[in-house]
This record gives sequence, C-alpha cells and structure tokens, in this order.
Amino acid sequence: VDSVGANELAARFRAAREDATLAVLEGFHPVKHALRFGAELLEVVAVDPGEVAALADRLAPDVREELEARLRPVDAETFAALIPTPPATRVAALARRPADELARLVSSPGPGPIVLLDAPRHLGNVGAAIRVAAAAGAEAVAVTGPADPWHPAAIRGAAGLQFALPVGRLESAGQVTRPIVAFDPAGDPLDPEAVPPGAVLAFGSERTGLGSGVAAAATLRVALPMRPGVSSLNLATAVAAALYGLRLAAG
Ligand SMILES: C[S@@+](CC[C@H](N)C(=O)[O-])C[C@H]1O[C@@H](n2cnc3c(N)ncnc32)[C@H](O)[C@@H]1O
Repeated sequence: VDSVGANELAARFRAAREDATLAVLEGFHPVKHALRFGAELLEVVAVDPGEVAALADRLAPDVREELEARLRPVDAETFAALIPTPPATRVAALARRPADELARLVSSPGPGPIVLLDAPRHLGNVGAAIRVAAAAGAEAVAVTGPADPWHPAAIRGAAGLQFALPVGRLESAGQVTRPIVAFDPAGDPLDPEAVPPGAVLAFGSERTGLGSGVAAAATLRVALPMRPGVSSLNLATAVAAALYGLRLAAG
C-alpha cells in the first residue's frame, strides 16, 4: 500500500466508524466469525498476512482460504492509523451490517428467546451479552438507549458474533408485542417452565436496572437466585445465566 493508498484506507475506516450501515472489525476473532456467518466484507487488512493465515490454520481452517484470498498487507504505521487500539493479531476489516430487523422481530411471533438490553451503558457488556446469546442459540438481541451494539468495541466484546444472529436497536421497548420476562434481582425466583415460548427476556442497565416502561410491560418479573448478601450479577453474566438456565432446563 503506497502513501496514497494508505490515506485512502484511513479515510475509509474513519468514515465507517460514523456510518450506521458499516461495521469495523478489529482482530482475528471478529473477522473469523464475520466470514463464518456470511458477512459481506468490503476490506480486510493485516500487517503480517502470513501470521494471520497461520492463525487461521490453527483456529479456523474452515475460513482460511477465503480469509487468505482477501487479505491486503499494510505496514504497521498504516494499521495504527486505521485501528487506534491495534489488536495483537494486527488484522482488521470493514463489513456491511445486515439490515436491522429488530422492530419486526419483536412485534411478530418467533421461536425466541429474544434478549432485550434496556439502556445498557458498557459496550463490553453489550458485546459479551451478544456473544453468549449467539452461543446459547437465542433468536436475536435488541438494545434500547444510546449504546450501539455494532460499535467496534461491542464487536470486539462479542468476537464478531453480531453476524451470527439479528442484532439491532429499538427506539423503545413499547415496540415489543411478544410476552416480556423482566429479569430483576427483586423478582420471583425463575421457574423456566413459566417462561412463555418466544418470550423477550429483558435486562436492565448496569446502574439503574430496568426502566419503568419495560417493568410495566412485563408479564413476569423473575430473579436468578443469589447467595444472601450479593446484590446483583453483572449484566452480561445475568444474560448468560438466564439463557443457559432456560436452555439446560429445556433439555
Ligand atoms: C448490574 S444489574 C443492575 C443492578 C441494579 N442496581 C438493580 O437493582 O437492578 C444489571 C441487570 O442484570 C440483571 N440481573 C442482575 N442480577 C440479577 C438477578 N440476580 N436476577 C435477575 N436479574 C439480574 C437485571 O436485569 C439487572 O437490571
């Protein structure tokens, strides 16, 4: 990549961070999952393509060929201009975000569960919740409030699993017509059999818990049991415990 090419790449990555139709993928695992789950990749760059191909040989042979064919070498200085906190694997990509289907999903029947994060604050929690939702086989992840579940930090936290299931924002929890199960440390102990099929599982923000709109719309308010003295679980671990509690109970 010559200096003109480097400037053009830097401008594209900069613009992509402000573009709600694009995603910036930082590091090997986001790029791997994007390829595995059929993302449309627009650009893949690496400081040492050979090193990335060797990683793919070891960790993701299923996507190695496609990854290697798309890799464009850049020098370390150019890479640092694209990705302000460069990942150890020094590979990054631009991809198109899939169309946002969340408003339609939460207002029509489906297999569930859908995870609803009500005004989360920390992108690391948003990413970890998306990662476990993908792993546990949830139908989708919806987010209200200002946090963007496609922010590069959330993509890093989710290892790029935004591409494995529908993930997007909702203007308000009022758009949900499916039954809502509110997760709240002060709720009744969770009985997996009482959770309706296709439910939206709602989790509150790290500091203030569930907003009053979601709490009022919920058909159930349930707690994950905790040892006395513990106030609450971290948001992402609550999502993990709930999804796997339900999944294991379903057999
Ligand atoms: C860190 S907690 C919020 C704590 C907040 N001070 C409160 O009282 O709800 C973030 C979210 O995780 C979920 N959560 C955490 N611990 C839980 C538990 N034991 N049972 C059910 N939900 C829990 C809830 O949805 C909560 O809103």
